[in-house]
Amino acid sequence: MVIMKKGHQPKCIKYIESSPMLIWEGYKFIGNRGRKFGTEVLEMRLMGQKVMGIRGPQAARIFYNDRYFKRKGAAPKRVQKTLTGENGVQGLDEAEHRQRKMMFLSIMNQDNLAQLNKILLKQWKIQSRKWEQEDSIVLFDYVQEMLCRVACQWAGVPLKKSEIKLRADDLGKMVDGFGAVGLRQWQGRIARKRTETWISNIIDQIRSNNYKPRDGSAAYIIAWHYNLTGELLSKQVAAVELINIIRPIVAITTYIVFGALAMHKYPECRRKLQLGDERYARMFVQEVRRYYPFTPFVGALVKQSFLWKQHLFKKGTLVLLDIYGINHDPRIWDWPNEFYPERFFAWKENPFDFIPQGGGHASSGHRCAGEMVTIEVMEASYRYLARNMQYKVPRQNLHYSLRRIPTLPKSRFIIKKIRIK
Ligand code: HEM
Repeated sequence: MVIMKKGHQPKCIKYIESSPMLIWEGYKFIGNRGRKFGTEVLEMRLMGQKVMGIRGPQAARIFYNDRYFKRKGAAPKRVQKTLTGENGVQGLDEAEHRQRKMMFLSIMNQDNLAQLNKILLKQWKIQSRKWEQEDSIVLFDYVQEMLCRVACQWAGVPLKKSEIKLRADDLGKMVDGFGAVGLRQWQGRIARKRTETWISNIIDQIRSNNYKPRDGSAAYIIAWHYNLTGELLSKQVAAVELINIIRPIVAITTYIVFGALAMHKYPECRRKLQLGDERYARMFVQEVRRYYPFTPFVGALVKQSFLWKQHLFKKGTLVLLDIYGINHDPRIWDWPNEFYPERFFAWKENPFDFIPQGGGHASSGHRCAGEMVTIEVMEASYRYLARNMQYKVPRQNLHYSLRRIPTLPKSRFIIKKIRIK
């Protein structure tokens, strides 16, 4: 139901309760309404709470201005209990945020990235040799497990052979559950509880010198990180932050599967990847991150009331930035609904118009701390899939629904007749 203010241009759209429409329209929810009514600002109610949605080429610039927005208290419990955990970096502001964010960025140094690449390539080789013995595999499930091994080894988290499947499933369910209601949401909550217990024990072991991770590894840095008041992070927060490293690495599986789908749908892209041109590989990665859906929106609270595009944003209002919509906005991207990696050839690297992992700058704002890790893992994985692996893609349901958040091809990408070159 839509109510427009009397005598008002159809710019500010007020909804009585929009949750059913969000569930129905998923990724396109903000964009559809905005396009229909020709507005960059939407007012709505989600679960009874007044929420504003912003979209369009200028939206990220205002959203990532910390004069106007803060994160403390912004994330719904539903998201904290599954995806992010409670009291982690995502909900911090100002000095506390900057200090915690530096902790994350110190993990992403060149030596650590090189190490990650080495571990990843080794795992691709070992695991794909095993896949060769199978009639067919579901790529999503196998890569998720492989990335769980990679993430834990890299981050300094001990992982027994017998628990790999459970841990990989749990890390996947925490991501799968955040946009859901009902069963998927509960599975995500259970997975988070179990994972936090597991990782809290590891933090304990590190702090009591019963287990020593590699110096400079994520586990080491996080377990021994002191906050602004000079105390070690609480065990719960340290666990949440270490999970903030391993969970998203495992989540790159989604992009690997979408990349494999793109190579299947556009064989000329696969051929170009096989030629080994590094510039093309990077453009392909960027286009997968732009074109395929992953993060739908991000949220923040208005810190002090302000006007934007003639709309009043009142202090305390939750505002959602339309990530998916901005990555498909025809005012930013020519032919936004075409998969066309070469569009990145002349891309000007504007931090506010290409925002699959948030906008602005990682060091000063909430932009993803693991963007470089994501890009490198994707690039190395696509190179391996295109150049080192031969496989057939049997008939299957590769459709992915934009109503489901997060989404995936229905069959999770089955491949068969795998041969390693
Ligand atoms: C699977 C690919 C990934 C996607 C789609 C993704 C997406 C995002 C998004 C949308 C945000 C929030 C930005 C905001 O709040 O404005 C974020 C934040 C974050 N990401 Fe990622 N991310 C990915 C991979 C990674 C990886 C590999 C790591 C670490 C190794 C990572 C660590 C983080 C952290 C710590 C934050 C919180 C940053 C902050 O609040 O300051 N992410 N990510």
